[in-house]
Amino acid sequence: MIHSFNPPARTLMGPGPADVHPRVLAALARPTIGHLDPAFVAMMDELKTLLRGAFRTDNALTMPVSAPGSAGMEICFVNLVEPGDTVVVCINGVFGSRMKENVERAGATAVVVEGTWGRAVDPEQVERTLAAHPEARILAFVHAETSTGACSDARALAEIARRHDCLTICDAVTSLGGSPLEVDAWGLDAVYSGSQKCLSCTPGLAPVTFSERALDKVRARTTKVNSWFLDLNLIMGYWSGEQKRSYHHTAPVNALYALHESLVMLTEEGIEQAWARHAHHHQALRAGLEALGLELIVPEAERLPQLNAVAVPAGIDEAEVRTRLLARYNLELGAGLGSLAGKVWRIGLMGYSSRPENILLCLGALGTELGALGHQTDTDAALAAARAVLLGTD
Ligand SMILES: Cc1ncc(COP(=O)(O)O)c(C=O)c1O
Repeated sequence: MIHSFNPPARTLMGPGPADVHPRVLAALARPTIGHLDPAFVAMMDELKTLLRGAFRTDNALTMPVSAPGSAGMEICFVNLVEPGDTVVVCINGVFGSRMKENVERAGATAVVVEGTWGRAVDPEQVERTLAAHPEARILAFVHAETSTGACSDARALAEIARRHDCLTICDAVTSLGGSPLEVDAWGLDAVYSGSQKCLSCTPGLAPVTFSERALDKVRARTTKVNSWFLDLNLIMGYWSGEQKRSYHHTAPVNALYALHESLVMLTEEGIEQAWARHAHHHQALRAGLEALGLELIVPEAERLPQLNAVAVPAGIDEAEVRTRLLARYNLELGAGLGSLAGKVWRIGLMGYSSRPENILLCLGALGTELGALGHQTDTDAALAAARAVLLGTD
C-alpha cells in the first residue's frame, strides 16, 4: 500500500531549489481557479509588473514561462536564433555548455569563448572573439554560473555586444533577486531565470524578459520557431496585456500564485535590500569557512554571494560529508559538477535559505563532521567568526 508522501523537513543550502518561504507554500494551497478567470488574469498582470521590478526593466514582454529554468534558456534560443546564424557562447561552467547545445539544435553555429571554471567570463576574450566574427548576431553568457559560484560582468559583456551589433542572451537563473541585475540600465536583450533560487519560490517556473530589439529579431524571422510550446508569437497572445487572452496552454495556476507571493515579498523587502542581505550573509559564511580552514575556489572579486564553491580538503570524501549532513542535520549541500565533481561542495545562500540560522547550522554541522572524520577544525572559532560578521562586530 502506497501512502501520502510527506517529505522530511530539510534545510536547503545547495545550488537550488532553496528553502521556500512559508508564505509562498501557503499561497500554493489557495483554491485553484480557471486560468482565464478575470481574477486570475488580473493576477497575471500584477505578476508581470512584479517581474519587471525584479528584473529592473520596462520591457513589455516580461512573464514567467510555465516550465523550469531550462525552458527559459530554450525560449530565448529557439526564438532568437535561426538556422545559419552565428552565436558567440561563453562557457565557464556547466550552463554555458547547455547554451552551446541550444545554439546547435537551432541549426546555428556556436563560436565558443572558452573560459576557466571558477572564473568570470573574460570581457577581453569576448571582445576579441566578436571582432574576429563580425557575422555573429548574438552573444550568450551565464551571469551567475551555479556550477562554480562565479559572477560575470553582465554590464560589460552587454556593452561589448552592443558595440559589435549583437543581441545578448543572459542566464540569470541564480542571479535574479540575489545579486545586482539591471536589465534596462545594462542593455540586456533576452534574460531568463528560475523560480527556485533567490526568489524563495518552488521550482518549475522560468521568468523571462525580452527587449524590443530582441522582439524585432523574432518578428524578422524567415523561418518558423522550431517549438510550438515556446513560440513567443503564440505565447504573447496569452500573456499580452492589451488584447483578449487566448488559450495557449493551461497555466500552472497555483504555481503562479506562489511566484506572485514570492515577488510581493521581494518588493516588501526591497530588491536592493535583498541583494545586500545575500552579500552580508555570504561574508558571514565566508568568515566561518575560512576559520574552519576551508577555501572558496572563486577569486574574491568574482564571487557570487548566493553560491559558494568550497574546496574539499585533501583526504576527505566529499560525498560522505554530505551524506552525514543530510542524515544528522537534515542539511543539504550541493556536490561539484563536471570537472569539479568530488572536488568542491556548493553551499547555497539563496532567497529564504539566506538566513543567519542557516549559516550557523551549516558551519556547526560541517565543522563537527569534518572533525569526526579526522580533519583538524575549530568549529567554535568558525561560529564566532560568522557571528561577528552577522552582528557587525568583526
Ligand atoms: C545557471 C543555471 N542555468 C540554468 C539552470 C536550469 O534551470 P532548471 O534546473 O530550473 O531547469 C540552472 C539550474 O540550476 C542554473 O543554475
